[in-house]
Amino acid sequence: MNYETIIVEKKEKVILFTLNRPDQLNALNSKLIDELGDGLTNAELDENIGAMVITGNAKAFAAGADIKEMKDKTFATAYMENFISKWEAITSCRKPIIAAVAGFALGGGCELAMMCDFILAGESAKFGQPEIKLGIIPGAGGTQRLTRFISKPKAMEMVLTGRMMDADEAEKSGLVSRVLKDEDLVSEAIKTAQSIANLSLPSVFLAKDSVNYSYESSLSQGVEYERKLFHSTFSLEDQKEGMEAFIEKRKPNFKNR
Ligand code: CAA
Repeated sequence: MNYETIIVEKKEKVILFTLNRPDQLNALNSKLIDELGDGLTNAELDENIGAMVITGNAKAFAAGADIKEMKDKTFATAYMENFISKWEAITSCRKPIIAAVAGFALGGGCELAMMCDFILAGESAKFGQPEIKLGIIPGAGGTQRLTRFISKPKAMEMVLTGRMMDADEAEKSGLVSRVLKDEDLVSEAIKTAQSIANLSLPSVFLAKDSVNYSYESSLSQGVEYERKLFHSTFSLEDQKEGMEAFIEKRKPNFKNR
């Protein structure tokens, strides 16, 4: 399918989604969200794909929800269409998604990055939730995910002031997993995604599920849940292959079974 607002490229077992509204700093309008949702669904269904990367361009990952598109909404229209709810579809993907962020990741852009499984940041990355300056508040999980990722005091400061955080501060705060040179960002994100895609996909799904469960459970419930999933991995052919390959000092040949 031809998309207008995203570019989709297949890189071996990885799909690279490039947000593509550069003249609007990749502002997230409804078309882009629909197209990204469609692309992610296709990648989920494609047996040859094991992971995804979402990126933007050198100036912006995404500068937020499209202010021009939403400015005339009323409470009734926003509420009745359940505005923004579609975005959450990203979080139901089972295959890992890496956000590769350079430039601005603001408002909905920061929220989109946080919906991914982890964020790799280029040195130029700037994160922020500036909605308060527009007379609104974050609406795609910013107050919830940022608070869980970087602690309440920092999240509160960012949400109440709209202050931006650079890549270095974002790494120190735990928002991003690694900071890379801008020129290496996308290639390193694809390499990382490729390394995940070459593992046993059922185990990758279980690992992702288990880490995500830690946000929804108490510690003892989470540990119990993890243990059960761990037990279930012994039903996989890939578990036998992984352990035999280790003992035989060779690379495993996972079959996703
Ligand atoms: N929506 C719509 N258009 C946007 C946009 C956005 N979020 N962000 C930037 N643009 C557009 C600008 O209007 C401009 O378009 P025109 O050339 O047609 O005027 C173009 O992108 C370039 O932007 P600037 O000229 O402003 O670029 P700059 O380098 O001077 O500033 C910036 C960059 C600081 C990121 C500034 O663009 C900015 O503050 N953008 C808005 C950031 C923001 O408030 N985001 C939150 C949106 S609300 C939200 O996301 C709600 C939610 O939680 C879901």
